[in-house]
Amino acid sequence: MTKGIILSGGWGTRLRPLTCTIPKTLMPVVNKPVIERQMQHLKKAGVKEIILAVSVMANDLKNYFQDGERLGIKIHYTNEKDPMGTAGAIKLAESFLKDDNFFMLNGDVILNFDFKDMLKKHETCKATGTIASKIVKDPSRYGVLIDDKNSNQILKFLEKSEYQPLEGKQVPMPINAGVYILEPSIFSYIEPNKRISMERDIFPNLSKERKLYHYPIDGVWKDIGKPEELLEGNILLMNDILKNLKEKRDNLINDNVKLDKSVLIHPPVTIGENVVVEKNCIIGPNVIIGNNVKIDENTEIKESLIYSENNISKNVKIEKSIVSDNCHIKNGAVLEGNENGLVIIASYVQVLENVRIISNSYNSISVCHHEVIKENKISSD
Ligand code: GDD
Ligand code: MG
Repeated sequence: MTKGIILSGGWGTRLRPLTCTIPKTLMPVVNKPVIERQMQHLKKAGVKEIILAVSVMANDLKNYFQDGERLGIKIHYTNEKDPMGTAGAIKLAESFLKDDNFFMLNGDVILNFDFKDMLKKHETCKATGTIASKIVKDPSRYGVLIDDKNSNQILKFLEKSEYQPLEGKQVPMPINAGVYILEPSIFSYIEPNKRISMERDIFPNLSKERKLYHYPIDGVWKDIGKPEELLEGNILLMNDILKNLKEKRDNLINDNVKLDKSVLIHPPVTIGENVVVEKNCIIGPNVIIGNNVKIDENTEIKESLIYSENNISKNVKIEKSIVSDNCHIKNGAVLEGNENGLVIIASYVQVLENVRIISNSYNSISVCHHEVIKENKISSD
């Protein structure tokens, strides 16, 4: 096995307005696109060539990765004019993948597990497909796997709404974690030139034929499809990276960051390149800041993601928020979300002096890219 395919062509609707300017699979997780981290895992498992199945914002992905030389992995592209569904997308890569088993990944999941071991297990069970699985407390938004507990053979694959828990109460179940190893015989199940879903149209039939197994994974795993998941996933991965470092560290702060000596850092915090933090700022816990960010005096940031190229002025307060790239949050502004409803600021936004954007409700407050916010936005239930 030397090849892989990563699905990277969905709309990313639930992450709007962040995905109006950044494709979902290029969303930074601990300052690197989620899909780039996946490529590093594939490379570690010996994969030398991959195909990116792109559609929505295809050019952003192509411009970012090009032929993959920078990452040391050869990258090809299939391009769907309109998204063809997860199976329709891989069918387009049939001639590239037809010679051997291959990895297929949903490009929007954070993970850290041993792909090589998964391959070994796949080859011993002689399945048409092996699906990485994760037990989650609330399986309702995933593909649920009903299995034979001894062999890990999948008896039923139930995508989202098709799974009804007994007495309506969600209980932990193994779910489809979006990493697969497939044999080329999979292509005989997929009709060409049609919009087809792997999860709704192909896996349920394969499980009836008893040709699917699952591979339970430990360690971090998170689908970043929704803003709360993106924030939570970033924090999970930051902790995982810190835990696996050879020498113990509390934060991931780049060497060329300029922190005034009065700045208070509450770990864990990640800070990228060329960031300046002026006096009396309080940063953390659970904050991830990208590259080329300027943070002026007396500003406080916690439980938030601040992407690259941002300018955050004095006396600003940011909590439970996601600020995309190239924004200017001006003096005295407040961005404050809560456990259930975040404040989400898309790219190139300006929040003017002393404006307060506060979610006191279950719903997030979102600001579209390039908007200039002059008045308070405060929500409550
Ligand atoms: N090329 C291409 N074409 N890619 C697509 C298309 C398409 O038509 N549709 C979706 N994708 C890509 C998305 O960009 C994403 O990387 C991946 O396929 C999965 O799509 P999502 O829209 O994120 O699906 P989901 O999160 O609701 O559910 C899927 O992932 C769960 C695990 O994270 C399903 O596979 C579930 O069964 C699974 O549990
Ligand atoms: Mg997803």
